[in-house]
Amino acid sequence: MNWEEAYQKQEVFWNRGKPSPPLRQYLERHPTRGRTLVPGCGHGHEVSLAVEYGLDAVGLDIAPTGIAEARALYPQLAARFVVGDLFNPAAELRGAFDVVLEHTCMSGLHPSLRADYRRGIDLTLKPGGLLVGVWFIDPQLGPGEEGPPFAFPVAELTALFADGYELVTDYVPDLAFESRVGRERVRVLRRL
Ligand SMILES: C[S@@+](CC[C@H](N)C(=O)[O-])C[C@H]1O[C@@H](n2cnc3c(N)ncnc32)[C@H](O)[C@@H]1O
Repeated sequence: MNWEEAYQKQEVFWNRGKPSPPLRQYLERHPTRGRTLVPGCGHGHEVSLAVEYGLDAVGLDIAPTGIAEARALYPQLAARFVVGDLFNPAAELRGAFDVVLEHTCMSGLHPSLRADYRRGIDLTLKPGGLLVGVWFIDPQLGPGEEGPPFAFPVAELTALFADGYELVTDYVPDLAFESRVGRERVRVLRRL
């Protein structure tokens, strides 16, 4: 997937134009603090949400046009948006975060890149830090259809973080974007 090209062509079919409802609900119910990374932040709606809930958030995305558009949408947060690769984060991002917020970064990645995603989280999240995820589990692909988004069964989420993380919270949210009802999972993991 060429993400930069998709932003340049304005083919951003994943963009819902506002922050994730289950993530908002989670932050409302579980006051969370600290330096926070939103990997694959796209247009930055979850960065805006995180700042609204008191988090010191940075949005990271590999697509420069996506980041430029996030800065234009949220000019007051412009300095919080950074171009970069989660799989090879800049030195200042390494070991720098108390919280990582996952929202449709993982589901956009080909399954062959999942180990790289895990490594990117390990490189950026401090021991003791929280990985707060709204994981897009079931994109309801038709027969023969490929992603993105790619299906990410709960068993694979469990397997990916089986070592080095402990389970904090896990549920199917009762709030979602209309097209994602019942297809997401909120799972929060603490890095050991
Ligand atoms: C499906 S989009 C989701 C964007 C945003 N989270 C949203 O919900 O609108 C996936 C995003 O991950 C970004 N991305 C893909 N690989 C990345 C990487 N290795 N490092 C950082 N960002 C990446 C893409 O550019 C894209 O913006």
